[in-house]
Amino acid sequence: MIVDEVPAEVTYPLRQAVLRPDGGEVAWAGDEDPEAFHLAARDAEGAVVGVVRFSPAPCPWRPEARAPWQLRGMATDAALRGAGAGRALVVDGLARIAARGGDLVWCDARVGAAGFYERMGFAVVTEPFDKPGIGPHVGMLIGLPPAPAGGPRSD
Ligand SMILES: CC(C)(COP(=O)(O)OP(=O)(O)OC[C@H]1O[C@@H](n2cnc3c(N)ncnc32)[C@H](O)[C@@H]1OP(=O)(O)O)[C@@H](O)C(=O)NCCC(=O)NCCS
Repeated sequence: MIVDEVPAEVTYPLRQAVLRPDGGEVAWAGDEDPEAFHLAARDAEGAVVGVVRFSPAPCPWRPEARAPWQLRGMATDAALRGAGAGRALVVDGLARIAARGGDLVWCDARVGAAGFYERMGFAVVTEPFDKPGIGPHVGMLIGLPPAPAGGPRSD
């Protein structure tokens, strides 16, 4: 599974098919935020089989977080569930955010996907709540360790 950063438009077909099958809008506010990034997981033929967006955003449940990011638009091809695309996207995204100095990642998780995020290390931090037209969600988050000191060596 190869994961790379892509323009927002590359994620729209899977957003449509998986997250907005009834025709809801797939271009979302913040997609073009220069600090946001979009990831695509590709199979061996280069077809996009998973997508996700990460963007800096205050965490509703941890207002004290120093550099919080939101995960949104997580979707994998229904024919390839359980094949590791979701994990590859989250692992890659968390590493990129840690490298950018982020200290927390949060999401509104569909109740049916909460087990997936728990496998990725996220914890449920809210009671279930409804998103009109989409269904029940729970708030989830994961804290990130500080990135190791980087930069060019001086010796
Ligand atoms: C949730 C979703 C992104 C997971 O993608 P995926 O490619 O199937 O995930 P992976 O194959 O990488 O699974 C990683 C692990 O999570 C587990 N897992 C996957 N989906 C799960 C679920 N819904 N509940 C519990 N565990 C799940 C897998 O079994 C695997 O376990 P392992 O650690 O034993 O290997 C995908 O099912 C999906 O797109 N669902 C529909 C849209 C959706 O709900 N998106 C989330 C919106 S908040």
